[in-house]
Amino acid sequence: PTALAGRPFLKELDFTAEEFRGLVELAAELKAAKKAGTETPYLRGKNIALIFEKTSTRTRCAFEVAAADQGARTTYLDPSGSQIGHKESVKDTARVLGRMYDAIQYRGDSQRKVEELAAYAGVPVYNGLTDDWHPTQMLADVLTMTEHRAGPLEETAFAYLGDARFNMGNSYLVTGALLGMDVRIVAPKSYWPAQEVVDRAQELAAGSGARITLTEDVAEGVAGADFVATDVWVSMGEPKEVWGERIAALAPYAVTMDVLRATGNPDVKFLHCLPAFHDLGTEIGREIHEAHGLESLEVTDEVFESAHSVVFDEAENRLHTIKAVLVATLA
Ligand code: CP
Ligand code: NVA
Repeated sequence: PTALAGRPFLKELDFTAEEFRGLVELAAELKAAKKAGTETPYLRGKNIALIFEKTSTRTRCAFEVAAADQGARTTYLDPSGSQIGHKESVKDTARVLGRMYDAIQYRGDSQRKVEELAAYAGVPVYNGLTDDWHPTQMLADVLTMTEHRAGPLEETAFAYLGDARFNMGNSYLVTGALLGMDVRIVAPKSYWPAQEVVDRAQELAAGSGARITLTEDVAEGVAGADFVATDVWVSMGEPKEVWGERIAALAPYAVTMDVLRATGNPDVKFLHCLPAFHDLGTEIGREIHEAHGLESLEVTDEVFESAHSVVFDEAENRLHTIKAVLVATLA
């Protein structure tokens, strides 16, 4: 058993830097073993429930493939296909699933729900995204950063542009602070993370040596960055009505080639958790185009398709990092 055996994975703030780094290192080992065809299945006979109250491509597939690679089985509970939240409370669901499963993944809106699930399940619970945090995504992003940057994380700078009040902005800020990185949140002030999240990040930074910058100025925020990251301007669960105000506020923070050039770093890499609105290839993208006339939103197609973009490495790394969480907590 590892040091994380039996532990839940609910938010970055629950982990020490060593624990977080250990998961990223384990993911790199598991990735190498899978590619070499030498992976050892540590989870034979385990069963994992996957509760999705919001939709998913990467997170669901990563959990399913990771479990299968390791010899475990999964049950997918779709956004409407169970009693959860409709006929049965989180507390009762937790106690039922905890009797049948070795672990539970939960994606939904409230962090309170995933914490409650973990408190009553008696088995490890994993946060596959809430409105507040996206911790498994952070493992994938840090693994991707270590793969694309020769220097240590403490000498790595990344800038997150866009809506920073939600899961991705919060998670980037505290993860960078935890790991001693140079973190820049670049957004209009009203889109910065809540003060309590900033305070926690500052506390972590005091111990880790991280540098934290919150700025409205794109040129200042991205100068010298090794990575530039963004996320959708309207997250799952938010109404269509907010598109107009988001576009008005965040358009100056779209990641364009000019933004990448402003880093002054010819090797700068672009990160995005995906899905991304970079072209008119989706129904919602075409709808937004008709209503607001834009061809792309948070990132241009030129950046997304450029050699700077490492978004598909990042997406693949969801598999290896989620597998690391399963192995560390269940093997
Ligand atoms: N990045 C991410 O969480 O993707 P999904 O919504 O497809 O799981
Ligand atoms: N902020 C986005 C992330 C999707 C992976 C959302 O919550 O919809």
